[in-house]
Amino acid sequence: MWTAGIAWDGSGYEVACIATDGTTAPTARFRADDVPGLVRHLGAVCGAQVLGVVDSTNGLLDGPLRGAGLRVLRADPWDLPARPVAGSVPALTLARRGQAQDPRLVETDTASGTLKGRDADLARAQQLSAPVADALAREGLFLERGPAGLRQVALTFDDGPSAPYTDRVLDVLREYAVPATFFCVGLHAQAAPAVLTRIADEGHCIGNHTWSHPFLPDLTRDEVLFQVDATTRAIAAVTGEAPTLVRPPYGSQTPDALECLAERGLTTVLWDRDTTDWAQPSADTITANALDGIVNGSVVLMHDGGGDRSQTVAALPVIIEALLAADYRLVTVDRMTAG
Ligand code: NI
Repeated sequence: MWTAGIAWDGSGYEVACIATDGTTAPTARFRADDVPGLVRHLGAVCGAQVLGVVDSTNGLLDGPLRGAGLRVLRADPWDLPARPVAGSVPALTLARRGQAQDPRLVETDTASGTLKGRDADLARAQQLSAPVADALAREGLFLERGPAGLRQVALTFDDGPSAPYTDRVLDVLREYAVPATFFCVGLHAQAAPAVLTRIADEGHCIGNHTWSHPFLPDLTRDEVLFQVDATTRAIAAVTGEAPTLVRPPYGSQTPDALECLAERGLTTVLWDRDTTDWAQPSADTITANALDGIVNGSVVLMHDGGGDRSQTVAALPVIIEALLAADYRLVTVDRMTAG
């Protein structure tokens, strides 16, 4: 039995594998868009029986790794040594936790995602942030839903750009000639510039979704700033434009983090319709979740990255046709906030 620790940094992933008897394989590096290569590496080094361990500051890998048949455990920050601002703890540190069968590791699953067991933390952080969020909303710097007086809806896609799903989403949007908003993670934006360019070239809006998709309440102020600034740089390097919108991973927030984002001139965008496509339900469920309760100004949360999104792609034409039939205009979030 082998354990693979997977670390992230400013340029991609590092993998360290360790066997039950302590044998270690040389560490290997992968670009963020080469999770298939990473999985092949694990198969070659570790065989079929391998446990993946990720630092909780990475919310991107568990979906694709579980999709490839791995068990994925999360190590939480209070159980780990200090990490650099621009990365997780080293891959070997994570691998050794798995090898030692550290009981504090949390096994992730598709139904709960990376945040398994932390729903109460999320709710508490949101409650604590509500006064700051309300104040920012009055300044137009925080939004869950657009103006009620306009018959418009914004479709949003998180966690890409990611092959092959981002291109498939873009194909559907082009077919219906409707725009959407893509909240991109920095690791993916840096690794897939051609897809990012296509999003921009086809008239969609690109927002900032942090570098490695962490739970913001776990981060220091410097880490929040790295997550946001590095992602803005990566997007601007490709498209020539810095994003004006940001979506905190999981909708996670703290009063400080919200103020950091606002100081960067970024409008924080949440959503009011969660399709729950991240949990990979059927296309019918995704469609129903998008449309049930939709109102003027609704912001619909979907995903083009972070796992198998074929059901999201299948649901998208049905969702768009229903919205157009109900006379909703589809707009990007930046247009929605502009009125
Ligand atoms: Ni996300």
